[in-house]
Amino acid sequence: MSFDPLPASLLTVLHRTRDGRILDLGCADGQLARLLDAQGAQVVGLDRMNLSGEGGFPFVVGDATRPPLRPAAWDLVIVANLLRHLPGAANDAELWYSWFDLLAAGGAFFVLEDEPAATAGPAGHYSRLQALLAGLPGRGPLLPLADFRRLCRRGAVRIAEDGWAANRYPMDAGAVVEMLASGKPPPGSEAAILAADIARDGIAAGHYWWARVERRQVS
Ligand SMILES: C[S@@+](CC[C@H](N)C(=O)[O-])C[C@H]1O[C@@H](n2cnc3c(N)ncnc32)[C@H](O)[C@@H]1O
Repeated sequence: MSFDPLPASLLTVLHRTRDGRILDLGCADGQLARLLDAQGAQVVGLDRMNLSGEGGFPFVVGDATRPPLRPAAWDLVIVANLLRHLPGAANDAELWYSWFDLLAAGGAFFVLEDEPAATAGPAGHYSRLQALLAGLPGRGPLLPLADFRRLCRRGAVRIAEDGWAANRYPMDAGAVVEMLASGKPPPGSEAAILAADIARDGIAAGHYWWARVERRQVS
C-alpha cells in the first residue's frame, strides 16, 4: 500500500533533497519507495523481510528498530504504516532517539499512518481488516493521529506539523479476499464475513495521517 496524494510538506522536502539520501524504514515491497522514485528521488528501503521482488530500488534487509545503517547520513527518513508492527514504539524514547540519530544535519523525519474511518463501506472494511490483523502476534492496532499527538506531548518526539489526507491509492480487493481466505476462516467468523463484504463492496484505504517530527530538545 502507499499514499496518494503524498503530503505537500513531504513533497517539498523531497524536492529539496532530491539528490540527498532518503530512507524508507519498513518499506515492504517498495510501493512508497517507487512513488518517491517517480518524483526523481533515490530511495533506500529497509525491511526485515526481503519483499523487494523485482527490486528497482536499493534495499537493505534489517530490523527497523536497530537499523544497520550509518547514523547522521540521511536527509529524509520516512516511517510509513510501520508503527502497528512495533507495539509500544510510538512511546519508546530510545527508539525515536535512534531514528533521529540517522538524520544528517537539517534532515527531516516523516511518519505516515492509515486512519480509515470505522464506517460502513470500503474504507470501513479496511478499518475492520486492520482491527482483525491487530490480533496477530507482534502486531497492534492502528495508531490514530489524536493518540500520537497525546503521546508526543511529553517524551522524545515533537510534532512540527501534521495533517490528514484522503488516500486515493487503489487497493486490490481480490488479493485481500485471497489473503483472508488463505487462513481458512470458518463460515460465520469475522474473517469470513469481512471477506464476503470486501468481495461485494471492494476495499479502500480511507484516510491517513502524516506528521513531520523532530527530536524534542530537553532543556
Ligand atoms: C504495512 S507494511 C508498510 C509498507 C510501506 N511502508 C507502506 O507504507 O505501505 C509494514 C512493513 O514493515 C515491516 N516490518 C515490520 N516490523 C519490522 C521491523 N522490526 N524491521 C523492519 N521491517 C519491519 C513488515 O515486514 C512490512 O513489510
